[in-house]
Amino acid sequence: MISFDSKNKTFKLDTPNTSYVIGVVDFDQLVNLYYGDKIADTEGLEARSFRPRCASFSPLTSEYNTDAHDFSPDCAPMEYGCNGCGDFRTSALSIRNVDGNTVTDMRYEGYRIYAGKPSIDPLPAVYLNSESEADTLEIDMADKVTGMRVTLIYTAFNSLDVIIRSARIENASQRPADIDRAMSMCVDLPGMDYDLITLYGRHCKERSEERRPLAHGLQGIASKRGVSSHCQNPFAALVSKNADENSGEAYGFNLVYSGNFEFCTECDYSGTSRILMGINPTDFTWHLEPGESFQTPEAVMVHTSKGIGEMSRIYHKLYNFNLVPGKYRTEKRPLLINSWEAAFFDFDTDKLVSFAERAKEFGMDMLVMDDGWFGDKYPRNNGTSSLGDWVVCKEKLPEGIKGLTASAREKGLKFGIWIEPEMTNSKSELFEKHPEWVIQQPHREMHKGRGGTQLVLDLSNPEVQEFVFGVVDKLMTAHPEIAYIKWDANMTLFNYGSTYLPRDKQSHLYIAYHRGLENILKRIHAKYPGLVMQACASGGGRINYGMLPYYDEFWTSDNTDALQRIFIQWGVSNFFPAVAMASHVSVDTNYQTGRKTPLKLRFDVAMSGRMGMELQPAHMTDEDKAFARRAIADYKLIRPVVQQGDLYRLISPFDKTGYASLMYVSPEKDHAAYFVYKLEQYHNMPRPAFRMAGLDPQKRYLVRELSLDGKPIPQDGKTFTGAFLMETGLDFEVGGEHASHVLELKAAE
Ligand code: GLA
Repeated sequence: MISFDSKNKTFKLDTPNTSYVIGVVDFDQLVNLYYGDKIADTEGLEARSFRPRCASFSPLTSEYNTDAHDFSPDCAPMEYGCNGCGDFRTSALSIRNVDGNTVTDMRYEGYRIYAGKPSIDPLPAVYLNSESEADTLEIDMADKVTGMRVTLIYTAFNSLDVIIRSARIENASQRPADIDRAMSMCVDLPGMDYDLITLYGRHCKERSEERRPLAHGLQGIASKRGVSSHCQNPFAALVSKNADENSGEAYGFNLVYSGNFEFCTECDYSGTSRILMGINPTDFTWHLEPGESFQTPEAVMVHTSKGIGEMSRIYHKLYNFNLVPGKYRTEKRPLLINSWEAAFFDFDTDKLVSFAERAKEFGMDMLVMDDGWFGDKYPRNNGTSSLGDWVVCKEKLPEGIKGLTASAREKGLKFGIWIEPEMTNSKSELFEKHPEWVIQQPHREMHKGRGGTQLVLDLSNPEVQEFVFGVVDKLMTAHPEIAYIKWDANMTLFNYGSTYLPRDKQSHLYIAYHRGLENILKRIHAKYPGLVMQACASGGGRINYGMLPYYDEFWTSDNTDALQRIFIQWGVSNFFPAVAMASHVSVDTNYQTGRKTPLKLRFDVAMSGRMGMELQPAHMTDEDKAFARRAIADYKLIRPVVQQGDLYRLISPFDKTGYASLMYVSPEKDHAAYFVYKLEQYHNMPRPAFRMAGLDPQKRYLVRELSLDGKPIPQDGKTFTGAFLMETGLDFEVGGEHASHVLELKAAE
């Protein structure tokens, strides 16, 4: 619901539990008046933008310094703070005019309110299922001196506490201009009594939670690698000091963009906390000829006063209903066996067929052939060659992909395949033919990635886009049975430069790359709507909303060590649901960490996400095979609730208590899956009460232990009220280091 109060000149955007208020004040300045829990009345709010601050009151004269009552962008909560017009905080918009100065002074001009949501082509965007799902407000602003204009776009959801923001900048002048900075959103919240939560990481250690107090000055996260990166992803939350999973205020911010981004907070003397999120201004400058416009990506803002867990659940719902392609809202994701850690590059048809046989025996749904299946002149036997040469390697697969799809079909399994279509190697037929197709800088030696040969294709070039689309199109045309694609991207955008873009548009490359990718993905999705796609970038190098709505899930990390996955998945769960997290049981003595963990722990961790396997069944003992069959059958019992239920995080691994636990509850609260893991063991270790959350206090639940390997917990087979399970909790011994338990809870009749 969005309304305009013409008397007070305020816009009010309401979601079920939140309000966002914007005011048009003196001199047609646009200010943020409120963002938080839903309010009924906005009268008097505009005083906030004139509030005397700091030293405006003199105890000697007992007088206010009246100057401080004049409107000043310096200390007002500006709705889209601009550069060079008296607002000295980091700006949302900075435009270099043809005369060289960078002053941008946007004033309110008018507005539109309508049902639904605009298209923001050529960028990925949150979609609506019907126009009644959300309303949109567009506010027009103009700089009377330069002729530049900006339209601020807000979409408020009617059944979810989500507000989406973006901005469209238009050159309505007669002369060219350059945008140096254009953020998707800017909010000035009163006070700075918040903690900032971000997710730091690196390859194989993605998404570690970091919580720190807001401090004066600038704080933030960013990527300048051309992609969102392993180090940071475009998500941040601002939470009240007392906020925990179940209570306290939480503001979430997510950018629907996969390229360079910046999120920053700035607290200055004015007592406001400015929050900015958008495309990283480094290497960004965007040239606008008269009449041209630039659209920023969307930022998804969430507010709740029911804790960090509720913020995540709101994001999970958005993912399910308004971000992913939509085919899995009710369907279950396939259980798959992937060849990577099972065989790496060393496989042939027989080996893959034997995986398929075992997978079927274990109760799995799909066989996925990972890297290593292609290359004619240069067969792909390691990471040094062949990307771009997407023809079957005849030595490994003499009957081609057809031989494999046929065996999979025979065994009642679906078939999936790995590709890395945005990349090539200097040792490849593609590079020999088209050296100009890779991202490169003139007169400089190219930095090469994996294998000392990897290079990134220049997707700003439409010919290259056609080629990449063709990789998928040819595969799908020849093998319509391919049901799943693991789409990898193992290099950041090094060698920043394009042989396609003209000299004055070189700074457009990072954006043009992502527009090119969007164009390819849109065409793939339109032609093959049933295809399931996983986004992988050396694991979690590209986990963000910008990869949606074309990808269904993420390979969250190349680190398959079950113990470390608990942390990684915990971090990812802040803004992605379990169904988005591919989580595979891999071999003992883990390849990445050298750690040995029990098969049960590996299964129990994989069961809390979209479960799969990456190991050679032939190497398992009979006992392990029997356990795998049991655990897979049990996963199927809880798959709907894990994949579609509401997540409740209970004991955080980041709290270092030695335990971690979480649970999923069905929307009807009649079915739940509970997980607890022992991360470490020490003498005299205190045992917490295993309290649950999200259940119906009135209902009685039958507790059943799943994935059983030994004696069940004493409460197995007994019923308890939701109130007991949430208030008192179950008391049982988890066992030694790396022990784990999975419980199914079903509402008793
Ligand atoms: C990346 C992926 C892995 C695997 C390999 C194949 O590292 O993250 O899962 O697909 O590439 O080369």
